[in-house]
Amino acid sequence: MKAEALKVRSAGSQSVLVPTMGALHRGHIELIREARRLAGAKGSVVLSLFVNPTQFAPGEDLGKYPRTLEADIEVCKTEGVDVLFTPTPLGLYPEGFSTSIDVGSLGTKLCGLSRPGHFNGVATVVVKLFGITAPDIAVFGKKDFQQLAVIRRVVVDLDIGVEITGVETVREADGLAMSSRNRYLDDKARKEATAIAAALKTAAALYSTGEQRSAALVAAALEVLGREVSIEVEYIKVSSAESLEELETVDKKAFLALAVRISGTRLIDNIELC
Ligand code: PAF
Repeated sequence: MKAEALKVRSAGSQSVLVPTMGALHRGHIELIREARRLAGAKGSVVLSLFVNPTQFAPGEDLGKYPRTLEADIEVCKTEGVDVLFTPTPLGLYPEGFSTSIDVGSLGTKLCGLSRPGHFNGVATVVVKLFGITAPDIAVFGKKDFQQLAVIRRVVVDLDIGVEITGVETVREADGLAMSSRNRYLDDKARKEATAIAAALKTAAALYSTGEQRSAALVAAALEVLGREVSIEVEYIKVSSAESLEELETVDKKAFLALAVRISGTRLIDNIELC
């Protein structure tokens, strides 16, 4: 991979990285298409596919995370990915590996409350992927808005010369955000899951009428989620887009973000408010 990256560098072409954990869906396809657009005809699109063990806590879904390599290879071929990079856990974390990035307070809010260490694992693997693939640009989905905020902070703090681009969330016709974890939902849970996007939309509609109090926006969303009794809300908060601090009033760029569990499956989503 390093030799391949060097070739692109010495040809003076742009290289754009799409970091993924595989189980590629339409959300990933939009990331690839944005990467292709940014790389240009002469540039190189690199897709990394690695289910990173260090971002899963014990008891999370590392073992059952969907692995669909054959189908993912087909997606990469169809979408014109130039390089598919599929390292192994031992390849990235060989014997003696001991360094990791601590992303500080950005990693302990929102999803970080129930997933301690998750964003440190994400940041460490992403920085390793940057080191190996040497991209000019990397693209990430906005569905994982905390991840995007963390990575943006990491590249600034560690002076990493990779430009970070966020790509809009891709949704099913009924609004459910595309996620590899949607595969865990049975028919009943899948139907109930439509309440997530509906709740966010309701709050955003209220915001567009001039309501800026976070408590009112959260209450409107909770009212919709509450109609589905099996949805357990882990958190729902209005947070600053940059610092991720919770806001009482939407007076700067903000997101209404949530995590819920439906029949044991944890799903996240968010909507931009400013
Ligand atoms: O968003 C993901 O799929 C992962 O968190 C990432 C960025 C590939 C790091 O493992």
